[in-house]
Order: sequence, then C-alpha cells, then structure tokens
Amino acid sequence: MCGIIGFSGSLEAADVLVTGLEQLEYRGYDSAGIAVQSKQGIQSVKAVGNVGALKEKLKEKVFHGSCGIGHTRWATHGGVSEVNAHPHQFGKITLIHNGIIENYKEIWEEYGAGKTLVSQTDTEIAALLFDKLYQGKPEETIKKAVSILEGSYAFCIIFEDIPDIVYCVRKVSPLVAARAKEGSFVASDVTALIAYTQDYFVLPEETILVLKQDTLYLEDLDGNQVEPEMLHVNWDTTAAQKNGYPHYMIKEIHEQAEALRNTILPRIKDNMPNFEAEQIPDSIFKGIDQIKIVACGTAMHAGMVGKVLLEKRVRIPVGVEIASEFRYQNPIINEKTLVIVISQSGETIDTLASLRQAKSKKAITLAIVNVKGSTIARESDYVLYTHAGPEIAVASTKAYTVQIAALVLLTMRMAYVSGMSDIEVIKKDYELLKLAEEAVHISLAKEEEIKELTNILKEKEDLFFIGRGIDYALSCEGSIKLKEISYIHSEAYAAGELKHGTISLITEGVPVIAIATQESVYAKMISNIREVRARGALVILITQEGVEVEPSIYNYHLTIPKLPDEFTPIPTAVLLQLIAYYTSVHRGLNVDQPRNLAKSVTVE
Ligand code: AGP
Repeated sequence: MCGIIGFSGSLEAADVLVTGLEQLEYRGYDSAGIAVQSKQGIQSVKAVGNVGALKEKLKEKVFHGSCGIGHTRWATHGGVSEVNAHPHQFGKITLIHNGIIENYKEIWEEYGAGKTLVSQTDTEIAALLFDKLYQGKPEETIKKAVSILEGSYAFCIIFEDIPDIVYCVRKVSPLVAARAKEGSFVASDVTALIAYTQDYFVLPEETILVLKQDTLYLEDLDGNQVEPEMLHVNWDTTAAQKNGYPHYMIKEIHEQAEALRNTILPRIKDNMPNFEAEQIPDSIFKGIDQIKIVACGTAMHAGMVGKVLLEKRVRIPVGVEIASEFRYQNPIINEKTLVIVISQSGETIDTLASLRQAKSKKAITLAIVNVKGSTIARESDYVLYTHAGPEIAVASTKAYTVQIAALVLLTMRMAYVSGMSDIEVIKKDYELLKLAEEAVHISLAKEEEIKELTNILKEKEDLFFIGRGIDYALSCEGSIKLKEISYIHSEAYAAGELKHGTISLITEGVPVIAIATQESVYAKMISNIREVRARGALVILITQEGVEVEPSIYNYHLTIPKLPDEFTPIPTAVLLQLIAYYTSVHRGLNVDQPRNLAKSVTVE
C-alpha cells in the first residue's frame, strides 16, 4: 500500500520523484522520502507526514542528480517515524519497498550478526541482506536475495558504486515501468507515469528491471532478456488531477455518469450485452451450479448487489465472500463454480489470494477490475474491465457504481444464455440500465440539499443505516463510505434485524438513514422506520419518488426517480456518497486521504 517511483534520465531526479509521489500519495501517506544519486554519492531526505512535508524539508537541501527513488509509506512493520520512512540504506545499498518480508526475523538471525539497525522495519533488514550478498554484481545480488526473501515485495534499489542505474524486482506487490524521452521510469501504478507517457508495461514477477538513463531492460533470473508486454492507458494527466474540484472524491462522484457510459456502451451490441470483445464466451455461464463473488470493502458491497440481481434473474445460488476470509476457508468450489473477483485496483492482496485459491480448485474465474494490466486482471481466466478512469480518492465511488453496472451486464447476459430471460426482456433491461445511468444526474442535482442536511450529522458520533434486500447492500456501502471519511461510527443493518438487538441503541436524536427504495418490501420498511422513529431517531429517508410517506416518520426525505427495484442501486449510491462526502467536509477532515487508510491494500 505504499507509493513507489524510480527514475534515471535527463531531468533533475528530485523534481521527478516528488511530482510522482504527489500522484501516488493516495497509496499511503504516513511518511515519504527520496534518494538521489549524483557524483557526490547518494543523498536521502525523509519526512513524517504527506509529500508536502517532504517538499518543505527539501527546501533546506540542494539535491542534484538525475537518478533516484522515492516512496510514500503506509506503515506495516514499525510505527510512523522519520527513521522508519523509506528509502532505507545499509552499506552500499539504498532501497525502497512495498510489501511485507515475512521471514525478516530469520534473515536478521542469519545475516545480522554484529550489525546495527536504526529502524524497526522489515525493509531495513532487506537492505542489510542485499548489502551482505553484494559482491559488485547487482543482478547476481538480486537473484540470490529473491531466493532467500519470503513474502511480498516491490524493490527499487540503487547501488552506491553503480551510478545512474535503478534496479527493480517484484513479487505480488505491483510495479509498472516505462521509457519516455526524459528517461526511464518505474512506479507502483501508472498515475505516476502518465505525465511522461501513456505506454507502459507491468514488471513481471521475479524478473529484474534495469533502469538506465538512455534505456531500460528486463532480464529473468537466469539472465535472459525478457520482452515486456506493452500496455496503453487512455488517461491523460488531467484525468488524475482535481480539475478545479476541492477534492478528488467529489470530482469522482461527478464523473460517474461518464464512467458508467464508458463501461456499459462498449459491451452493448443491438441493445444486448455482448462480451465478444472481452473474449468472455457464453460457454462459461453454462453448466455452472454456483457463483461466488469475492472481494473486499466497497467492491464486496457491489458484490452484494450482484448477488440479489443474479439470484433473482438467473436462479443460481450466489455467495458473497469477504476475500480475507475466503482465502483461508478451503472453500467448497470446483470446475462448476464461477468465481467473480471484484477489485478497483486489481492489486488487493486478499482478493488476489482468493483468486489464486479459486484457480487452484479449478473454478472458472472472472475479474471485474478498473486498472488495466493489474495483477488480478492478468491472473484471472476472464476480465470484464470497468472504465471509470483513475480513482484517486481513498473512498471508492465511481468504481463502485461501474462495478454494479458490470454486474448488471453479466446478469443480463447470463439470464439470456440460460434461457431465463428472452431477448425482449433483456433489451428492456438495457433501457432501464440507461435510465439508472441518467438518474445519476438527478441524484447529483440534490447536492446542495445534501450539503445542507448533513450539517445535522457533523456533531454525531453514532449513526445507523437500515434497508431490506438490495437496500441492505446499499446500507453497507453507505456505512463504509461515511465511516472511512467522517470517522463517525456507523453500522448497517438489515431493517428486519433491528428488533433482535440493535434497536436498543436507538435513542433520542440518533440518526438513522433508512433506505426504502424496494417496492417489494416498502411496507415492511415503513414499519421498521416507525419503530426507530418511536424511539426518537432522526430519520433521513431515501425512497423512490411518488411513494406515499407520512411526514411524521422522517426528518429529511431524499428521492430517486421511479425505477424497477433492481435498477435503484446506482442513483441511491450517489446520494449516499454525497452524504458521506459533505459530512466529512463539515467535520473539516481530509476527505481524500483519511487517517489510517490507503487506496489499495496490497499487504495482508
Ligand atoms: C472503499 O471506499 C475502500 N477504499 C475500500 O473498502 C476498498 O473498496 C477495498 O479496499 C477494495 O479495494 P479494491 O476494489 O481496489 O480491491
């Protein structure tokens, strides 16, 4: 979950590294640091806090050199401190690392005799190992080191006596690289590269990348040259900027209609979902007897919506699994199981491990991923990319709604292939999906109203979301959105479950966001709302427009346009995102980079 950048070329490395770290800051922002190599040797500077703190410290130093490495940290081993920040130096080695070295204690016992460490990190022990093994040949050193290291890693290494070259190697943790006219670049993800080029490649695992000023090349651990698979990203630098919005999150909330269009339209042919371009054959949907949807956080909440859609329309059992649980459960799956893994980043370690678990059991694997060429995308049997563009805010918004759209398309295709729905029904579904996409604008039009009403939430410390059916899945998503950026403790509850314990927590003024968009259970929801209202709850009610509601049961009433139940999640989600966003803004918090979090959880 750290940000990594490396450069060797014709520019001042310090400028390239700091600019790149600013693009990568969403991956981790406990502390940051850079190391620059010049004729005077290797100079490093590190700072606790975000990249801005590092820039302040850099003002005190003169850094010249055209080769260097930079890192933003999300602490795993060792607390947040300057000494634990990267880069770490040991002997002739200066390196940065993303991942977890699981056998760092054994390495210390084997190689640390007589040595002194200054930090509490596994990374410094890795630097000690590289230094211990180094006999003047970097590739040989790396080859020996990766045979010893266990765990996940992405290293960028500078050897003190080898000028202007950065060496890189990875296992599980992501690294992408590119060549541009300014030089050679490596980074945790492509957002740090698009200022220089839109053509890049993913560094294959356990191959050595050698970054030189005038070239870069890959070689495998046997010293054979490796040709990278080039990828192209359509984003430009503005796509990863705020473009006048105060935060990335609100920009990305407003990008959802475009993100949905870009995700849906390329998969529609003759008003029917069509996955030919994705090379997803109908055959994989035939003969399966169960579906598992595996993901983390918001992606898992999208999966909860997918479960309702698929079970309703395809009538196959669908299990939604938390990836960090699924990977250790010895799941009961086989070649007749379709495992759908969902991940915006395509690098979430638990989701990746679950994918590998599913493949080991011969399940059919299909990934719904936003980042092209990401590890999960590359390792799945089939990929249905979402085209939301770069999502920088830690709180996922447009990635969530396009994941739902992808699941709607999959549901439509599977319902058609299985014969559960005929072509006319599917074409009607597509018309409804377009209405759901247009309804995003109507939800966005409520932004000022939501900005106003969320003033009542800024002093609250506890809040409940309740819903039934698909609205329970939306309650889970609304709750995580609010928690992660406003730090208000909130819980999502199936509304019918309240009476089994939680309602004891509903007292005067406790906010309850009641999501009642499902016509099929609307009357039951109103009963549940009466129950919380009777105990003094402050109710924010979300329904479809045009439904009968007594004003006595709510304080605020937000609506979405009238839609069939299964097409309500997308406009509802936008309302929930705006509620979370403005509550955090009213509380004066760092909306895009909330405490303790990072955008992509690439370590266990
Ligand atoms: C959502 O707002 C969070 N940032 C988090 O739950 C996120 O959805 C989760 O970590 C999964 O990330 P992924 O989609 O990149 O796998």
